[in-house]
Amino acid sequence: MTHPIRVAVTGAAGQIGYAMLFRLASGEIFGPDQPVILHLVEIPPMLSALDGVEMELEDCAFPTLAGVVKADSDHLEDAFADCNFVVCVGSIPRKAGMERGDLIRINGPIFTSTGKAIEAAAADDVRVLVVGNPCNTNCLIAMSNAPKVPRDRWYAMTRLDQNRAMTQIAKKAGQPVSAVKNMNIWGNHSATQFPDFYHATIHGNPVPEIIEDHDWLRGEFIETVQKRGAAVIQARGASSAASAANAALGTIKSIITPTPLGESFSAAVCSDGSYGVDEGLICGYPLTSDGTTWKIVEGQEHDDFAQAKFEATLQELRDERDVVRDLLPG
Ligand code: NAI
Repeated sequence: MTHPIRVAVTGAAGQIGYAMLFRLASGEIFGPDQPVILHLVEIPPMLSALDGVEMELEDCAFPTLAGVVKADSDHLEDAFADCNFVVCVGSIPRKAGMERGDLIRINGPIFTSTGKAIEAAAADDVRVLVVGNPCNTNCLIAMSNAPKVPRDRWYAMTRLDQNRAMTQIAKKAGQPVSAVKNMNIWGNHSATQFPDFYHATIHGNPVPEIIEDHDWLRGEFIETVQKRGAAVIQARGASSAASAANAALGTIKSIITPTPLGESFSAAVCSDGSYGVDEGLICGYPLTSDGTTWKIVEGQEHDDFAQAKFEATLQELRDERDVVRDLLPG
């Protein structure tokens, strides 16, 4: 029998966790022959909700679900024991009147203990995807507190932004979303992100050649993608959940699947200095995967407009890092 893969999800009783777990268990992500053991992680007051989630998982009778482990955030080494993937969703959401800097300081400490426990207890091949916001900087904190875990194992999620951007481009061009490729997000998962339409393609042709309304691309398009999260909250009365879970699962699939030749996907990873980014920052880049590790797509040129957008989001990442310096050992 194939050895089960262990996947931990923190914040497992929250909206994104709930939308993600059943698809992880179903065989959709790791395949119909790969057993999965889910580690559901929550804060202690939410453990009883996890009992309900476990019952529902059982009631799906997924042939690929080989077990469920429940653990609380006070015992993270138990939670992450032997895990091959850790998806860090659990965090405190931003409330009205809260500044981004406040959120970083509130959620940062969650990720110091997360990093330490991953290093102490997870499997040797562990890969970590941080979804909880501010995800780039939370990922930086966790990675910095797990120095023995190789740096190519850490990801922060920009896939939802990629997917949002792909759909906006497809709708504007009157083409199916499947025709849009290489729609990557540079920088931070925040309102400063730069969705790079220059290097995206529609049926293999550069987006600016197909969409002639360049004012729309430089203006409304970027703004719509940057503010989409807020628009969903406004309309739904709750933040993006199913689409965020879908993006997390898409990221995992892209990590474990060799990227088709000529294509790329979006995630934030530990910078090696590429494109002038400070080494060690968790920055959104266009990536390819060989099924195990990633490479940053090289040689993409930015005109003055794109470079200014990139610099702005990069500066925000630097500012966030400075706010949490005391949580970054070494
Ligand atoms: P939610 O509030 O429904 O669920 C969060 C869950 O995390 C709660 O059940 C809570 O009890 C749990 N939690 C809190 N602290 C924890 C800890 N220390 N350890 C384990 N669990 C803990 O929130 P939702 O909607 O599921 O969102 C979760 C996070 O994902 C938020 O930070 C949100 O901003 C972020 N997000 C990120 C996106 C991205 O594109 N990167 C997109 C959408 C949301």
